Amino acid sequence: MSDREEYGLLDPEEGEGDDFGDEWEEIDVSDTDADRIARKRDREFAEFRKRLKDADQFKVAQSVFDDATFAAIYKLVQDGYIDAFGGPISTGKEANVYEALGADDRDVAVKIYRINASNFQQMRAYLEGDPRFEGIGSDKKKVVLAWTKKEFANLRRARAAGVRVPEPIAVERNVLVMELVGLVEERARRLAEVTVENPETAFEVVREYMRRLHGAGLVHGDLSEYNLIIHDGELVVIDLGQAVTVHHPNADDFLDRDCRNVASFFTRQGIDVDPADLRSFVTAAEP
Ligand SMILES: Nc1ncnc2c1ncn2[C@@H]1O[C@H](COP(=O)(O)OP(=O)(O)O)[C@@H](O)[C@H]1O
Ligand SMILES: [Mg+2]
Repeated sequence: MSDREEYGLLDPEEGEGDDFGDEWEEIDVSDTDADRIARKRDREFAEFRKRLKDADQFKVAQSVFDDATFAAIYKLVQDGYIDAFGGPISTGKEANVYEALGADDRDVAVKIYRINASNFQQMRAYLEGDPRFEGIGSDKKKVVLAWTKKEFANLRRARAAGVRVPEPIAVERNVLVMELVGLVEERARRLAEVTVENPETAFEVVREYMRRLHGAGLVHGDLSEYNLIIHDGELVVIDLGQAVTVHHPNADDFLDRDCRNVASFFTRQGIDVDPADLRSFVTAAEP
C-alpha cells in the first residue's frame, strides 16, 4: 500500500469529471411536500410526529424541531430513505446529526438544520453572492432551506471532483441524509481527536482534496481539523454547508482562512507548512 493510499486518497478516475449537472441552476425553496404535509396534519402524520417526539433521542431536540421539520422526516421515511432513528452523533449550533438506518439496511447520517439557527445572519453572508442562490431574501426559513440544499449540492459536486466526502443520499427541506462515515458501534473521529500517525501523508491528502475542490469551483470555507473525519485510515471532508463558489465575493478570504487553519494544524503535528505555499498549491488547479 502506498503512503497516500494509507489515508484513502481517492483515485481521481473515480470522480465523474467535470460534468456537474444542474445543481448550479437556481434553487427553488418555495413550498415543499413537507410543508404541505405539516399543514394537512392528517392522522398518520400526527401519529408519526407523536412517536418521534416521544422517542428518547428526540427528547432534547423536540423543542427546537417544528412541525414542518417532523414532516420532512416523515416524507423521508415514506420515500424509504430512513427506516429507523438511532442516537444523536452531534448537536451543533445550527444542526443536529443523527445516526439512522437507511434503505437496504445501510446506516446513514441525518443532519437536521434548525430553522431558528442562532447565527442565521452569518448564513446569509455565505449565500449572498453565490450565483446559485440569488433572490433568497431574508426569510429565515428560505435561508435555512437553501443552506441545506446547498450542502447537498456541494457534496455532490465535491464527490464528482474526486474529493472524499460523505455520499449525499437525499434532501428534504431542512433535513439531509448522507452516508454514515464509520460505524454505529465505532464512530468516525475528527482529526482533532486522534493522534495523526503519519502527518506528512495526511497533509498531502488534505492538500490534494483542497486542490480538487478548488478545481471544481468550490472553497470549503470552514476547513480545519474539526471538519475532517477519519475512519479506518480514511480521511473524509465533511460539513460543506457553507462552501461557496470561487466567484463568491469572499471566496478569497475563505480560502485564506482554510489554508491558515490547515497549515496551523499540520504545523502543530510537527511538519513545516506555510499557508501561502498551500494556497499556491490549491489554486494551481484552474476552476
Ligand atoms: N456523514 C457523517 N458520518 C459520520 N459522522 C458525521 C457525518 N456528518 C457529521 N458527522 C459528525 O457530526 C459532527 C457535526 O457535523 P457537521 O457536518 O460538522 O456539522 P456542524 O455544522 O454542526 O459542525 C461532525 O463533527 C461529525 O462528528
Ligand atoms: Mg462541523
